Amino acid sequence: MIEINHLRKSFGEGDKKIVVLDDFNAKMEKGQITSIIGGSGSGKSTVLKHLIGAYTPDSGEIWIDGEEVSLLKGEAANSVRKKFGIMFQSGALFNSLTVEDNVALPMREHTELNESTIQIMVKMKLEMVGLRGAEHLKPAQLSGGMVKRIALARAIALDPKIVFYDEPSAGLDPISIGVIDKLIIDLSRKMGITSVVVTHEIPSAMRISDKIIMLFKGKIIASGSPDEIRNSDDPRVQQFIEGSPDGPIPFSKSQTDYGEELKGMIKV
Ligand SMILES: Nc1ncnc2c1ncn2[C@@H]1O[C@H](COP(=O)(O)OP(=O)(O)OP(=O)(O)O)[C@@H](O)[C@H]1O
Ligand SMILES: [Mg+2]
Repeated sequence: MIEINHLRKSFGEGDKKIVVLDDFNAKMEKGQITSIIGGSGSGKSTVLKHLIGAYTPDSGEIWIDGEEVSLLKGEAANSVRKKFGIMFQSGALFNSLTVEDNVALPMREHTELNESTIQIMVKMKLEMVGLRGAEHLKPAQLSGGMVKRIALARAIALDPKIVFYDEPSAGLDPISIGVIDKLIIDLSRKMGITSVVVTHEIPSAMRISDKIIMLFKGKIIASGSPDEIRNSDDPRVQQFIEGSPDGPIPFSKSQTDYGEELKGMIKV
């Protein structure tokens, strides 16, 4: 469903230039859940932003559903975007809109459906995330976990083939994380949705993933099933999944290069 070949991306110029992704290669199979894990600044969101067309690669190819999408613009880019839903890190709901209007937004923007059909579809999506009855609430009236579930209902509003999740369970308690995990699994298993999940939550990635890709400084250092990752003999992988402060990944040194102006301010 998704294939990324030799993706390279850097930001900045001259001696400020940082290479964020260096020859990134990955395949995300149809109907499967692929998680991308890795430390802060390792390039996870940058991969996701290339997949949704927000960034253009310096070089490399991105294939989605049989189409090379990295250079598409305008109408062609829009028609690819209709194939996927995105659940953003913060939820990104519109605070002034009710839950119903938030979920209906993509339907109103991208389809010709009439209002009564839209209302029925919104109810169905809310039912799927276990929040039927929340239609008339505003985001400020929802808990963090509910915001994530509404964001998920909106991500699947147009019945996408693919859903991209950026940190779907960040900041949630373990039970709410379990609820989101189960929703992601259900969408994948029952509706055949291809899922790409960027996450810091190792137990969650281990539970939901068919495949896990671990990034370190813009390079893939491990890729495989949860069991293969668990049994990796790479000490960097072991340190990360155990959350250990001691190991080859130094705590005191950032994985990214701070600019000169920041260096003096950071005491290590
Ligand atoms: N638009 C941009 N301009 C300049 N630098 C960028 C830009 N986007 C990302 N970066 C840099 O790329 C690196 C990787 O960032 P990215 O957001 O992909 O990390 P991440 O793995 O998602 O981290 P986190 O877990 O903290 O979300 C960082 O050093 C970041 O500063
Ligand atoms: Mg990120």
